[in-house]
Amino acid sequence: MALIDLPLLMKDAVRGKRSAVTCQLKCASQCAFGECNHSDNPTFRDIASRALSRRTMLGGSTAAVAIGLAGTQGAFAAGGAAPAAPVGPAPALAPNGTALDFEAIAPVAADVDEFTVPEGFEWHTVIRWGDPLFDDAPEFDWNAQSAEAQKLQFGYNNDYTEIQEIPGSDGKRAVMFVNHEYTNENIMLPADTDADDAIEIGMAAHGLTVVELERKDAVSPYTYVKSAELNRRILLTDEFELTGPAAGDDLVKTVEDPEGRTVLGTLGNCAGGLTPWGTLLSGEENFHGYFRSAGTSEAEQRYGLRDSATARGWEGKYDRYDARIEGYENEPNRFGYIVEVDPFDPTSTPRKHTSLGRFKHEGANVIVAADGRVVAYSGDDEVFDYLYKFVSRDTYEEGNKKHNMTLLENGDLYVAKFTGKSPADEIDGSGKVPSDGSFDGTGEWLPLVVDGESKVEGFTVAEVLVHTRLAADKVGPTKMDRCEDVEPSLHTGRVYVACTNNSGRGTEGKAGVDEVNPRTENRDGHVVEIDEGDDQTSTEFSWNLLMVCGDPAQGDQTYFSGFPVDQVSPISCPDNLAFDSVGNLWISTDGAPSGIGYNDGLFRVTLDGEARGRVEQFLSVPMDGETCGPIIRDQDKTAFVSVQHPGEDGEWGAHTSYFPDFDGQGPKPSVIQVLPVKPENPFTDVKKGQEHYDAIIWAYENGIAKGYKDDTFRPLQPVNRDAMAAFLYRLAGSPEVDLPRSEPFKDVKKGQEHYTEIIWAYQMGITTGWSDRTFRPTQPIARDAMAAFVYRYAGSPEIAEPTTAPFTDVKPSMMYAKEIAWLKERGVSKGWSDGTYRPLNPMNRDATTAFLQRMATESNVAFRAG
Ligand code: FEO
Ligand code: CA
Ligand code: CA
Repeated sequence: MALIDLPLLMKDAVRGKRSAVTCQLKCASQCAFGECNHSDNPTFRDIASRALSRRTMLGGSTAAVAIGLAGTQGAFAAGGAAPAAPVGPAPALAPNGTALDFEAIAPVAADVDEFTVPEGFEWHTVIRWGDPLFDDAPEFDWNAQSAEAQKLQFGYNNDYTEIQEIPGSDGKRAVMFVNHEYTNENIMLPADTDADDAIEIGMAAHGLTVVELERKDAVSPYTYVKSAELNRRILLTDEFELTGPAAGDDLVKTVEDPEGRTVLGTLGNCAGGLTPWGTLLSGEENFHGYFRSAGTSEAEQRYGLRDSATARGWEGKYDRYDARIEGYENEPNRFGYIVEVDPFDPTSTPRKHTSLGRFKHEGANVIVAADGRVVAYSGDDEVFDYLYKFVSRDTYEEGNKKHNMTLLENGDLYVAKFTGKSPADEIDGSGKVPSDGSFDGTGEWLPLVVDGESKVEGFTVAEVLVHTRLAADKVGPTKMDRCEDVEPSLHTGRVYVACTNNSGRGTEGKAGVDEVNPRTENRDGHVVEIDEGDDQTSTEFSWNLLMVCGDPAQGDQTYFSGFPVDQVSPISCPDNLAFDSVGNLWISTDGAPSGIGYNDGLFRVTLDGEARGRVEQFLSVPMDGETCGPIIRDQDKTAFVSVQHPGEDGEWGAHTSYFPDFDGQGPKPSVIQVLPVKPENPFTDVKKGQEHYDAIIWAYENGIAKGYKDDTFRPLQPVNRDAMAAFLYRLAGSPEVDLPRSEPFKDVKKGQEHYTEIIWAYQMGITTGWSDRTFRPTQPIARDAMAAFVYRYAGSPEIAEPTTAPFTDVKPSMMYAKEIAWLKERGVSKGWSDGTYRPLNPMNRDATTAFLQRMATESNVAFRAG
């Protein structure tokens, strides 16, 4: 018997995009109960178009804070090359000169259980459901999963994912943050699993994960580090602090928390955002599906809280999930917030910020405005619900993380009203562009809370922040087609809103089309672009539609900002958004299978210039999966996605996906890194068969020698002293280096090439430099000095002074004779065939790789200095 029965009602009621299983487990089949928003707000038709001064649309005048994100991530799996792209001839424009160059893949049919990447790329599993995070965590076992194990393992249904480089790790270590939105017990656990065990395992698979990653170098995949210092699971038993004006209010008090300030756990964590101060925001989305409530109050009904058994039945075991029980009526009021977590402090208490309001938050994304206040955008992901904006009371202080972590605690909250520019009869529900050539208009941010005061009649501030939907209904915002990610571009300040779909739009008894939601029964969704002009805190904006999604090849009425529709990858149900380092927009999708019949995927969209609106598909996820949490590190030619609910429509024993391991067991939600296939020999001036070829390739594969930016290795060039320090540093495993306050060498300055490696070599006693306090980094290193470097690298082993000459030209009395004799004894250097060592000669780069390879593989000369 299935662990969770799907009532037939749900199966029949599924609308548009989703499988019945997704509906039931993810959103508690909200659509089967109709939309929650029965308010009769004015649509744009009711509103005379206003003479809003149209500010300039161009230029990045906003003080967008560029966040220092460095590349990151991944483990192993197979990589499949895709067939030729469906798109037409590419315009001769690289999208803003990004380093991530690829040929779009063809869309992949929805019944294909493969992860598809562009030709020349491969994919690696960074981490998967059940992977052990701590030393005491057991390895995952399909047939013996337990709640205790799950608490120490990576959770289920990874959604929002973010990766930040760990400072000082030279790009080799990173910390990853992941949301675990919900669970699919039907495919996670054997069908005969005890129902009580299933509840406990399911609970432990919810929540959040922080985990460290490491990689050899920028062209190698990331793997996760078990038991690393920052690793953390945040579970339903962990304390969260409520902040902001609603904290401590009667509306959030329960019998277990009479102060109304401490909530246990977080639920329905969907998308999120990285703040400029390095913390993560996570949106509590479909929390209503976890609670059984009386369902009688206006507020409960507006949030979809009902008196019916939940899918997982937690309310039968723990009182707090049954809000009908006295003392627990307010428990659902403690979910539906934006959560903030500091991934760099494993002991920190995560917080829920009431200032950003309570609704089905998809996520939140922050930008710093010109005056230093921070602005956070957030969508309420439900059909016919709203788009919100928060403006902080206090201002951002560069480098002051403690202060910045208070910025989301107090501020103003607004909700969006859009007005179209075209005559109403031109918005006919087909998605056809109006005669003025675009879907566009103006908008207002309608105040809910400003300067600590409620702007909604009959609502206190706390009521606005807890019953935000009801408060917003009073002020007349625009009912949207399910706002998922809302993300400002840090390059331009323009804000992008993914409206994923709304099959109810324009149907009987529901709100009709308007210019910002222009399609009846909107199956494939659209993306709105908002321009706040030169002030991100402004209460007025202009907007246009970047795209109206679908598959032009199947005859769908689409729009891509005027880009030829026969030259785009088909795209449906935009969900999560990300930007690359040069400002291209990336969109991941959720629902394409029931929209256009293809698997979901990740797409790049050019935003500016002649190719604006061009959509190129980068990857496609396996059967029944959703593409989440995209992270684009185009500088490293790599990208990451979280694959959520692969094989969701399967059953235990009849799986529809075996991703990512394809081992015949079952599917596991996983974080995946895509990166270029590493060529066996990347150097243009190194050919198979030449002297020391194998050693050069060995050094490249092991990250010891990297070659030059122009793809040459320059094998016959002498090795300079700085490069020798770098070779030995990498051979030692690239350890962390504490940089000194004052420089040991006159001619070695911070920022110069191999600075860190030279400092390391000095600190380890491998080099002392010259007596005039120079290191002479760009001088070729002589063979005798190299012997000394290597001898000290090996920890200066005790050996007797040589009494006989190790080589004909190395007399026992000479400088470094001992080191050279040691080198010979260990078999690292055999000298020349004429019996000489030629101590004062330089050494070429190719011969040096052979030397290093012998050290590491034959002579076992390990790093022991320091
Ligand atoms: Fe969890 Fe709105 O997607
Ligand atoms: Ca989402
Ligand atoms: Ca989604």
